[in-house]
Amino acid sequence: MRTGERESAIEAPVPGVAEARVRVPRGPDATAEGLAPGDVHARDAAARATVEEERIGASLADYFQWEDEDVFGKARAFAGYLAEIRARQHDLYRRTLVSSSGHRVHIRDPFTGQVREMVMMASNNYLGLTSHPRVVEAAVRATREYGAGAGSVPLLAGTMSIHRQLEERLAAFKGCEDAMVFAAGYAGNLGALAGLLRPGDLVVNDILNHASIVDGCRMSGATSKVFPHLNLRALERILERAGGEFRGKMVVVDGVFSMDGDIAPLPELITICRRHGARLMIDEAHATGVIGKHGRGTPEYWGVEGQVDVVFGTLSKALGGVGGFVASRREVIDYLRIFARPYMFSTALPPAVTASVLAALDVIETEPELREQLWDNIRYLTGNLRALGFNLGNAQTAIVPLIIGDDYKVNEMARRLHELGIFVNPVFYPAVSRKLSRVRLSVMATHTREDLDLTLEACARAGRELGVI
Ligand SMILES: Cc1ncc(COP(=O)(O)O)c(C=O)c1O
Repeated sequence: MRTGERESAIEAPVPGVAEARVRVPRGPDATAEGLAPGDVHARDAAARATVEEERIGASLADYFQWEDEDVFGKARAFAGYLAEIRARQHDLYRRTLVSSSGHRVHIRDPFTGQVREMVMMASNNYLGLTSHPRVVEAAVRATREYGAGAGSVPLLAGTMSIHRQLEERLAAFKGCEDAMVFAAGYAGNLGALAGLLRPGDLVVNDILNHASIVDGCRMSGATSKVFPHLNLRALERILERAGGEFRGKMVVVDGVFSMDGDIAPLPELITICRRHGARLMIDEAHATGVIGKHGRGTPEYWGVEGQVDVVFGTLSKALGGVGGFVASRREVIDYLRIFARPYMFSTALPPAVTASVLAALDVIETEPELREQLWDNIRYLTGNLRALGFNLGNAQTAIVPLIIGDDYKVNEMARRLHELGIFVNPVFYPAVSRKLSRVRLSVMATHTREDLDLTLEACARAGRELGVI
């Protein structure tokens, strides 16, 4: 699939890489350089100089496809690009924390080399559970009792009693018969989709679905179709036209969309899927622990628990750990335990994480005030950002995009906010469409009013300087 914007994202999950086919710069010509074709090592030095001159790309997109007989050619070219964006202080990737991922973090500033405190507005640690005392204590205790690693894949020798407890707890939390746990959320989506779909099946995705869903669909060999974001008429048209052409059909949506923070309309989606004999799968990465009266996610929010066929979630966001899970009917989970390759062929979750997520579920169930505080903070921040004149799209949850639609301004906004002590991430095409590039903020329950006011002040200042508001 190489035509639409989002389809290109399938080729390249790194933001910005999908423009590759538009401009394909060439690496140095080996013959012109007087070097033997294929002598890739000898070409390194000459190539660096040539690429410096030839580099015309202005974004990550240009470096996905690169004509060079050396597979390292693109990396060599990319090194020049990186040096350029670093000089502009536009490379904010991998800023290094020297503290936990709390509402305030200490980082080693990549531009000064100094350790400094920042307000963290980019963590998925929505409830602050990565360092909640009960969660940390559970991890320490489990490490003492079960050791540091699980020692094997779940099917062979890696299933411990805490893994079984966690799967039961997650199934109950999501109102499903059974659940299975993966060592990464990404692996969970891959496993569930490639485990259930086959060539001859049809899978229909919202255009803003997460890259792990897109990759899982590709891996399955099923035919993938995409509908514009939450355009249910377009979804229905695809299903109608599919008619009897395909064997099985599945519709996949994020419950809460990871770049926009809006919520999928599950009741309508359930009706459409039933009408067309399609299964519905939702990705609850950003909904679990955040929305619904008890934090059980999108089905609870809409009052449709038990009506979604496959519920995927991560353990890495509000649950404060790492890993993913899939919950569904018992027979589906039994099947996936054998046919989901990332489950079958990857070592089970470490005991510390398994126990910490169990403790996180306890906290979510017994300390609802954390979720209430999160929602107070969401309302305060989004209300004030909108009043300042920022375009937040249809943000409804803890993910708050400042939509700008100009890559340079987005980079400058993120750089300025970094200077002002606010840690945010810029987001570009193809993670979002080109016209909607943005700075993305994430709210946590542990943010204080002072954190939020500092953020608002900095956003107002940077936004005015750049003419964004
Ligand atoms: C919507 C969505 N699904 C899946 C994932 C993958 O989860 P993990 O980071 O736990 O591997 C993410 C992570 O960013 C996500 O945002």
